[in-house]
Amino acid sequence: MAVETPTYFGFLETLQALNLKVVEIPTGSRTGICLDATRDALANNNVKALMVMPSYSNPLGSCMPDENKEKLYKILAEFDVPAIEDDIYGDLHFGERRPKPLKAWDTDGRVLLCSSFGKTLAPSLRVGWCAPGRYLERVRRLKFTNTLGTPVVLQKTVSDFLRNGGYDHHLRSIRRAYHSQLHLFSQTILRHFPEGTRLSRPEGSFVLWIEMPAGVDTLRLHRDALRHKISIAPGALFSVKERYKNCLRMNCGLPWSDTIETALHTLGDLAKKQL
Ligand SMILES: Cc1ncc(COP(=O)(O)O)c(C=O)c1O
Repeated sequence: MAVETPTYFGFLETLQALNLKVVEIPTGSRTGICLDATRDALANNNVKALMVMPSYSNPLGSCMPDENKEKLYKILAEFDVPAIEDDIYGDLHFGERRPKPLKAWDTDGRVLLCSSFGKTLAPSLRVGWCAPGRYLERVRRLKFTNTLGTPVVLQKTVSDFLRNGGYDHHLRSIRRAYHSQLHLFSQTILRHFPEGTRLSRPEGSFVLWIEMPAGVDTLRLHRDALRHKISIAPGALFSVKERYKNCLRMNCGLPWSDTIETALHTLGDLAKKQL
């Protein structure tokens, strides 16, 4: 299975549980998965599928421009490889237009578009969807053997919320909130973290990727921060190789508060102490 790197650790855990070999493809924080590297990876490995987050990846927040999505689709078709597209952050765009999913270019059913209300309403709803193209029957069977089904009462609740316009209204307000939270987190991090710290600048979602100077070990920072009741996701979680030791992903989904500002200050001090 090919994945972006860095990629969401949940994918890596799933692939490990399934005993699948992972091929990592470099991804940039602005335009997403590198197309040349994807071509090389598919040409030189026996890749059965690509797991990709084209619209606001976790952890980078990168969004592929339309022309890159089109090119990626062509590469997949050339090597006859399907893509599992995770579009979970797609509704959380800050600009006017929602980014099109890779699925928009899918003419032969090779893209399995997956998403959920986990990032927009509540993860505990466990309501999501999949448009699996030519894999519909296999996905149906897997869904049945894995969970039997999703509680109807939860689906009906979400469906009513969608139908009466509540979801669109809610999206408009959380998009604004996340945009401003990302801004406040970024400003505060740049003020308190070690000199030379670099940040992603996502145009959607609510996660930041933070790269600190090479001397910082974010696994150690993670342990130190827990003692102050601060939770971060160290960079090492986002790869199967030994990478991103000085990076971390920050979840900026909580509303801004003095507690958060103090926590970021503490984190910055703990990181500086390592240098
Ligand atoms: C990229 C990505 N995909 C999937 C998930 C899991 O989503 P769900 O709660 O809908 O299972 C997460 C949660 O963090 C995520 O970041």
